[in-house]
Amino acid sequence: MKNTKIIYFKDIVATGNGNSNQGHLTPIESSKDIPFDIKRLYYITSVPEGVTRGYHSHRDLEQVLICMKGSVCIKTSTPFEQEEVLLDSPFKGLYIGPMVWREMSRFSEDSVLVVLASRFYDEKDYIREYEQYEVLAKEYFDESR
Ligand code: TYD
Repeated sequence: MKNTKIIYFKDIVATGNGNSNQGHLTPIESSKDIPFDIKRLYYITSVPEGVTRGYHSHRDLEQVLICMKGSVCIKTSTPFEQEEVLLDSPFKGLYIGPMVWREMSRFSEDSVLVVLASRFYDEKDYIREYEQYEVLAKEYFDESR
């Protein structure tokens, strides 16, 4: 789907000191392992069962969502396409670029959803009304088709 992609991160298990099973290490370097410079990080925890969050798009912001613990379902859509991704591994991220509508649901009880973002928080970058989103997104994606 346009302006989204799954990114798989490194899973480093060998430490080189001869011991086995020391766990996993995943590095994420700005503009190397993800396609933007990280300006902000936030996380979502303790979401009650049945709650869906999101229901918005961003005009310019780029983000990578990683479920560090547990699982969460991310539905992304544009007026032309839609997709559903289950984030259930700390080695897997979902990149979401500009003008993509997102809804996050089915948070497992223990889930920790970390979001890396390309910009500081700015409410003006949000589009929260679906009708307004649809008009702007049709223009945006029509131009890039
Ligand atoms: P919002 O992005 O709407 O959350 P979600 O999409 O997960 O449902 O943000 C929820 C509230 O938190 C909203 O009042 C804005 C505030 N907020 C910040 O102050 N800083 C931030 O970096 C973010 C992401 C949200």
